[in-house]
Amino acid sequence: MASYPTIPLHQYHEYPLDEMRERLNDFYDNINRRRTVREFSARPVPRDIIETALKAANTAPSGANLQPWHFAVVSGAETKRRIREAAEVEEREFYEHRASEEWLAALEPLGTDDSKPFLETAPYLIAVFLQKYGELEDGRKVKHYYPAESTGLATGMLITALHMAGLAALTHTPSPMKFLNQILGRPKSERPFLLLVVGYPAEDAAVPDIQRKPLQDFASFIED
Ligand SMILES: Cc1cc2nc3c(=O)[nH]c(=O)nc-3n(C[C@H](O)[C@H](O)[C@H](O)COP(=O)(O)O)c2cc1C
Repeated sequence: MASYPTIPLHQYHEYPLDEMRERLNDFYDNINRRRTVREFSARPVPRDIIETALKAANTAPSGANLQPWHFAVVSGAETKRRIREAAEVEEREFYEHRASEEWLAALEPLGTDDSKPFLETAPYLIAVFLQKYGELEDGRKVKHYYPAESTGLATGMLITALHMAGLAALTHTPSPMKFLNQILGRPKSERPFLLLVVGYPAEDAAVPDIQRKPLQDFASFIED
């Protein structure tokens, strides 16, 4: 395959160090306020806001630039109802039978259970699919490289974009999620990655008082 022509890196901006620090501190202060919300308001969110957040997510780096993700955006009440119903079946099975004692113990402080009303309350459910391989129009398959890493990065950028816009999100992973392919008509080349619940938090929303690890516990610097 011929290589791409190159273009100058005109998008790049260098900032003086003081400005670099200030910009980063501002960003950190903002992203540090991101929390997973589990109680949503039904207030509508205009679709163009979601579209721009998705375009931001789609700027994520991906293995060989194959962009191996698909975002199915659900706002219709009937489809949300079907997703809630299917998710609650899986979640009941999970909490009652599938989850190990250890897993249940890890979830207990978060207070989560098998009831998922937010799947109908929130204005948007964004089902993120990982494309295991691509499909050309003539039916040939295209190998994807690092689809899990790539889709994880794109999803992280989507969550960040939504937060920066002042919206809340819940990363939801009913397990297994195969029902999403069926309800949303996605092909078998796509694996459901996670379900993002998106909207404004409910007015009385509360979140668990959790802590984030300090820098020295999650990063190491090797300087020689
Ligand atoms: C891959 C993944 C799956 C998650 N699945 C669920 C879920 O199914 N239900 C839920 O209530 N929270 C879920 N969470 C949210 C985590 O519990 C939450 O991110 C964590 O407790 C930290 O809280 P914070 O996001 O408010 O910082 C998930 C998060 C990730 C990254």
